[in-house]
Amino acid sequence: MASRGAGRALASLLALSSVLALALQGAAAKPRVPAMFVFGDSLVDVGNNNHLANCNARCRANYTRYGVDLPCHSPTGRFSNGYNLADQLGGESQSHVGLDTGINFASGGVGLLERTGRSVVWYTHNGRRQLLPRCFDHFTRVITWMLENRTAADFIAKSLFFISVGSNDLFEYSDAPPAPDNRNDTEFLQDLVASYAGYVKVHAYAVGARKFSVVSPSLVGCCPSQRKIAHDDPKDVDKYGCLGTANNLSRQLQPMVASMLHDLSLELPRMNYSLGDAVGMAKWVFQSPSTPAYDLTELVTACCGSGEFGAGGCNSTALLCQNRSSYVFWGSYHPTEAASAVTAKQLFVDTGLFVHPINVQQLVTLQP
Ligand SMILES: *[C@@H]1O[C@H](CO)[C@@H](O)[C@H](O)[C@H]1NC(C)=O
Ligand SMILES: *[C@@H]1O[C@H](CO)[C@@H](O)[C@H](O)[C@H]1NC(C)=O
Ligand SMILES: *[C@@H]1O[C@H](CO)[C@@H](O)[C@H](O)[C@H]1NC(C)=O
Ligand SMILES: *[C@@H]1O[C@H](CO)[C@@H](O)[C@H](O)[C@H]1NC(C)=O
Ligand SMILES: *[C@@H]1O[C@H](CO)[C@@H](O)[C@H](O)[C@H]1NC(C)=O
Ligand SMILES: *[C@@H]1O[C@H](CO)[C@@H](O)[C@H](O)[C@H]1NC(C)=O
Ligand SMILES: *[C@@H]1O[C@H](CO)[C@@H](O)[C@H](O)[C@H]1NC(C)=O
Repeated sequence: MASRGAGRALASLLALSSVLALALQGAAAKPRVPAMFVFGDSLVDVGNNNHLANCNARCRANYTRYGVDLPCHSPTGRFSNGYNLADQLGGESQSHVGLDTGINFASGGVGLLERTGRSVVWYTHNGRRQLLPRCFDHFTRVITWMLENRTAADFIAKSLFFISVGSNDLFEYSDAPPAPDNRNDTEFLQDLVASYAGYVKVHAYAVGARKFSVVSPSLVGCCPSQRKIAHDDPKDVDKYGCLGTANNLSRQLQPMVASMLHDLSLELPRMNYSLGDAVGMAKWVFQSPSTPAYDLTELVTACCGSGEFGAGGCNSTALLCQNRSSYVFWGSYHPTEAASAVTAKQLFVDTGLFVHPINVQQLVTLQP
């Protein structure tokens, strides 16, 4: 979050923190974890960008059409027609963990590396890339405040830390790659993962976080925006009709995130994690779009958006589909509530197909 918006953002965080203080005093019903802290990008932002001074219309989801399927039928800053992945995994309603306590620090456009391209993200007022650690700065302030009370350490250790980040780095790198003789994908992905490991270790574990649920970036080359790029340059179309280079990056990144977390869990005492393989889940949906559990038959076109693949961006005048629960993509970069629901459920219940080494249900019941 930008520092100019920080005063306001921090005020609302502190308001939320009093909810946490109440929880510290012992909630009536005992949830499996006392709270959830969310970090990441627009896949899990629940409206924080609306409070940021230098986040312009492009980095906000505050138009009519967004939020059309929420109970209020109006935009809340979520980049979806309804609830997003964070809501559906952890929130009080419609969710698996079933929490009413937590703080969401996510911000649409956030990434892991400063040096990746300049297409998707927004910038803080001093021109710096908005990065995950700047969201952690807010977290650190809240935690410092909470840790003045000794019971908070236990509270934080038992809480669920949910992180979804990295897609923006992949978008930017594949949209504006380095010059061919300067390009080294392996090196780029290694830097990405090293930076990710640093945040988990230094910003979260070091202040007491022990339970991590992480989702690796999905097949980013299949978003309508990237599909359109692929279509315009058919040399780079993969078997899904998506942008091949972008999907290759996602595919290579997934096992690297897996071994990063595995290594951290060996290094850091009492750390436990659950990693969702979003690439595997996307392939699964592409191969079986219609099952008794869901019916995502429109895999290609954005529900809200104009032009080819609906890639022209969702805004208050864009076309809006009727049958939103059958669309994977809400807009040119974001999934529908229905598609996020499939991911959320899988993160919670999957037994080794796409979620390793344990699922979120097991993670939240572990005694730290
Ligand atoms: C610290 O936590 C205890 C119990 O969880 C609570 O009763 C007390 O009010 C808290 N103190 C402060 C200063 O927040
Ligand atoms: C959306 O945000 C922009 C600033 O980026 C603001 O000008 C506009 O009034 C907001 N729209 C709504 C509906 O809140
Ligand atoms: C790319 O980077 C990796 C990791 O730094 C290195 O091992 C490899 O040799 C590099 N490849 C090329 C073609 O320079
Ligand atoms: C993607 O990766 C596969 C396997 O590593 C490779 O054969 C293919 O050429 C790559 N495609 C692109 C567009 O980079
Ligand atoms: C939790 O983490 C500890 C050490 O970090 C590890 O020994 C244990 O196997 C993990 N539990 C599960 C269920 O993965
Ligand atoms: C919505 O997007 C379309 C296509 O990009 C654009 O032509 C139109 O002006 C936008 N409408 C608003 C209200 O921003
Ligand atoms: C809406 O989706 C359902 C389920 O996929 C399908 O049965 C129905 O025909 C669709 N309706 C329209 C108007 O596309």
